[in-house]
Amino acid sequence: MKRSSYVILALGGLLIGGLTAVLTKPGMQQKLLEPQASVGKALVGGPFSLVDHTGKRVTEQDFRGRYSLVLFGFTYCPDVCPSGLQVMAAALDKLGAKGDRITPVFISVDPERDTPAQLAQYVASFHRRLVGLTGTQAEVDAVAKAYRVYFKKVRDEKSSANYTIDHTALIYLMDQNGSYVAHFTPTTGLDAMAERLAKLLPG
Ligand code: NI
Repeated sequence: MKRSSYVILALGGLLIGGLTAVLTKPGMQQKLLEPQASVGKALVGGPFSLVDHTGKRVTEQDFRGRYSLVLFGFTYCPDVCPSGLQVMAAALDKLGAKGDRITPVFISVDPERDTPAQLAQYVASFHRRLVGLTGTQAEVDAVAKAYRVYFKKVRDEKSSANYTIDHTALIYLMDQNGSYVAHFTPTTGLDAMAERLAKLLPG
């Protein structure tokens, strides 16, 4: 779909149990809310069962012990997902050894088109360690719900299979226990993301 009709949902107040969605579109001033003070437990994340880009069945347990940067999207996304993944990949590389402690993850909200094979080709073009995840529609619905990710199929004659998908495009930093730490947006600059990640990662 065209950038002009792209929807980014920025979620705020995640840490205090509130959930605020702000619709941003080009032309409007972007209001991207940062999580408020760490009170209580984050509502983002949880158990899942999906298939990775090599065809292997994985769960949230496979990501334990390491930090991860998680973006939901789809491989046919024309601009928001690619730019988000580029920034993620560049930030991890910039961080060097610290970046190596973070697993970049791309979770598809388009299981119909994003087969493991399609994902394998896609993730390799961004970062050597980027993990692509997909699953059945029910599995994708469940993980999106756990991460408070909104997505909706929208008719688009110009796109393959005649549809595109509006979706939340936040990048979540999850810790080694799978708990939410912070989030970024695809418009977060490379330097800003690298700097903040360096501060957020212990050691
Ligand atoms: Ni996208």
